[in-house]
Amino acid sequence: MKRLMLLAALITLVTSSLAEARIKVKGRGDNMNFDPESIEATFRPAFDLMSRKCIKCHTMGRTVISVQTGRAPITGQPFNKQAVKAYGIKMLRKPNSDMNKQEIRDIVLLLNHLLDENMK
Ligand code: HEC
Repeated sequence: MKRLMLLAALITLVTSSLAEARIKVKGRGDNMNFDPESIEATFRPAFDLMSRKCIKCHTMGRTVISVQTGRAPITGQPFNKQAVKAYGIKMLRKPNSDMNKQEIRDIVLLLNHLLDENMK
């Protein structure tokens, strides 16, 4: 039984990292971003927040690629909901991140939503 679950987990991991990109993206390279028009109205405020806060140290492209591929480009770690949460906490602890707990929470929820959308 344990083996079967491990196998199932492995298959999920492989297929999710090979998953076709379903979220809409605009621009290339440094200008790459999620297509704002593809963001649902309820997530717009969080999207605006992310667009302001998460481009201080690197471009949005890094976040877009992470969501699309399910893999964080720098460390090569899987980029799933668990990773998003851990990353949010990591960001919060960065001395000059200029974000509070509520803002991180909103962005984590948005990224979780984008990960879901990408799986569709
Ligand atoms: C204070 C500077 C700073 C801010 C603000 C910042 N980042 Fe980062 N980010 C980094 C650095 C530095 C790295 C390189 C790896 C690391 O330290 O995790 C990184 C890496 C990443 C990665 C790739 C992680 C990996 O393991 O490959 C993602 C995705 C990411 N950032 C998303 C975001 C999001 C989303 C936000 C807004 C909530 C954000 N970043 C805000 C500095 C920042």
